[in-house]
Amino acid sequence: MVKQAAQILSPDENGLAQAAEYLRAGQCVAFPTETVYGLGADARDGQAVARIYEAKSRPSFNPLIVHVHDVQAAKRYVRWNDMAERLAQAFWPGALSLVLPLSDNHGLSELVTAGLDTVALRVPAHPVAQQLLDIFDGPIAAPSANPSGRISPTCAGHVIDGLGDRIAGIVDGGPCNVGVESTIVQVSSPPRLLRPGGIASVNIETVLECPLASPEAEKITAPGQIASHYAPNAEMRLNAHSADHGEIHLGFGDIAGDLTLSASGNLVEAAANLFGHLHQLDETGRPIAVAPIPMTGLGQAINDRLNRAAAPRSGMPSRS
Ligand code: TXA
Ligand code: MG
Repeated sequence: MVKQAAQILSPDENGLAQAAEYLRAGQCVAFPTETVYGLGADARDGQAVARIYEAKSRPSFNPLIVHVHDVQAAKRYVRWNDMAERLAQAFWPGALSLVLPLSDNHGLSELVTAGLDTVALRVPAHPVAQQLLDIFDGPIAAPSANPSGRISPTCAGHVIDGLGDRIAGIVDGGPCNVGVESTIVQVSSPPRLLRPGGIASVNIETVLECPLASPEAEKITAPGQIASHYAPNAEMRLNAHSADHGEIHLGFGDIAGDLTLSASGNLVEAAANLFGHLHQLDETGRPIAVAPIPMTGLGQAINDRLNRAAAPRSGMPSRS
């Protein structure tokens, strides 16, 4: 693949129109938020979301934060509740992400939520992020705009250094003033702090008038893991060139299967289809055999997810 340098876009009408154009075309664009620069893609487009993982060379699929323009837009995607209303009133726009149950017909890609039935939403305060969301007029999935394992970027130069040859554009909106990622709260009973960040948890507790439970309370080792990654109920067998008796077969490339991740062997397409197809096959109630997936590019993250799904279940966090 010939790699092209990202277009540096100014945070004005023309630059943002071009950024929105790239997003509509399924490309990734980095943009400033008040916490860190995000690597954005259309959260409804699975292949666009897959390109985020590809650009970051992320070895695994974690659910991503979906950025929306305002509270009203947020309510389209989730089942809102009183606690969410209080937190949004107090901290949005701002450095707080709320994890809430997905609504019916939410329209977000299954890759953005990594197959979970909840989603993390944030209304960023940075004026450039606000304008981009306004012009794009849709939800933007965005993790920090750095290659996996590197530190989060707080100016456009950091993004260019890390990802400049892997993404379509970068909106240069100057330095980020918060400098650490948003605080993530799961808005459940009790509410839980999933990741400390730009807004102090004590301020959140004051607004909620109750303490935030910590992930450790459930013996979960790393932030975010409380999400308890989606895994099918069915038994899974990997690297299966054909299905054994009773199995249903998930194909890839030359191996057609009963349903295929990508008939042409395209890993971006396969990543976009992964969680949706697993859900679909799981509903048959049959054990799932999965064709071999190469370990190149996004194949690493796909295999990581498949390996976890196929691993013995005892000792895993609950998968509700
Ligand atoms: O400040 C920020 O939050 C930056 C800027 C760009 O907005 N974004 C960011 O996004 O840090 P991201 O996608 O890297 O954060 C993803 C983390 C996951 O690792 C996980 O901990 C949590 O958000 N998360 C997302 N969806 C979740 C869900 N449904 N349930 C639990 N945790 C979730
Ligand atoms: Mg990050």
